[in-house]
Amino acid sequence: MPLTTTGDLVTRARAAGTAVAAFNIISLEHVEAVVAGAEAARAPVVLQVSENAVRFRHGRLLPLARAALAAAERAAVPVALHLDHVRSDLLLHRAGDAGFSSVMYDASHLPYAENLAATRTAVDWAHGQGLWAEAELGEIGGKDGRPPRDAHAPGVRTDPDEAVAFVAGSGVDALAVAVGSVHAMTTRTAILDHALLRRLATALDVPLVLHGSSGVPDPELRAAVAGGIAKVNIGTALNQAMTTAIREYLGAHPHAVDSRSYLRAGREAMARTVERLLTGTGLTGPAPDRP
Ligand code: G3H
Ligand code: ZN
Repeated sequence: MPLTTTGDLVTRARAAGTAVAAFNIISLEHVEAVVAGAEAARAPVVLQVSENAVRFRHGRLLPLARAALAAAERAAVPVALHLDHVRSDLLLHRAGDAGFSSVMYDASHLPYAENLAATRTAVDWAHGQGLWAEAELGEIGGKDGRPPRDAHAPGVRTDPDEAVAFVAGSGVDALAVAVGSVHAMTTRTAILDHALLRRLATALDVPLVLHGSSGVPDPELRAAVAGGIAKVNIGTALNQAMTTAIREYLGAHPHAVDSRSYLRAGREAMARTVERLLTGTGLTGPAPDRP
């Protein structure tokens, strides 16, 4: 199955009334686990690398990107590569050469006018390179002296009118919206604002993206997809699965030395999590990818 693009996966998923899952990868074990889980679920998937993950890899993008690219090219399901939560222009400008088909430019921490201007510049650059561009709009700060808050700070909601203006002004291909999910939750207890999501989906003509999806339970995720979410970002759930499995393995094998033993346990736990999330939430992609 060939390497594909995020834009193609999201467009086809949206047309089919479903969504594509995008998993954050940090290590080679994450890469292998996401592909294995997606193959088991027979679902297309996005492998995404965040700016934080690049920082963890000493600022080097290529080692992880090359591993993801090689895994994607050999996968039995369509796989796309996405660069996630990019704030650095330097990193943004390396996206295309590193094999990514899409970027999420994150200027949501800036005051609205600056967010819009920076996003417009980033989107223009991305489109010039043939890349699909995602951005996010959280809470616009400054009105009452408060700073802006990103789309996944607790309590933040995206205003539909502001979102319409932001999409028109920035030219983004997809918008991450604040409808009640929060980054890095370790319990699946988030309740989404489905009425707001419907208003956003009606008002906007671009696909909507849900970040912080690890904390969203299956029924809420299914409802979000039915309500207009076309890309579902998941990160923490993988780290939780990996860390728990490794902790358990080392607890049961206190004298283990070979790192493959516990990395295998961590990788298998992540693959099971990916498969369960994909099948449990119906994120199995558009019809042509099903057997
Ligand atoms: O962009 C990545 C996601 O929003 C991941 O969020 O780690 O809370 O699942 P999460
Ligand atoms: Zn995110």
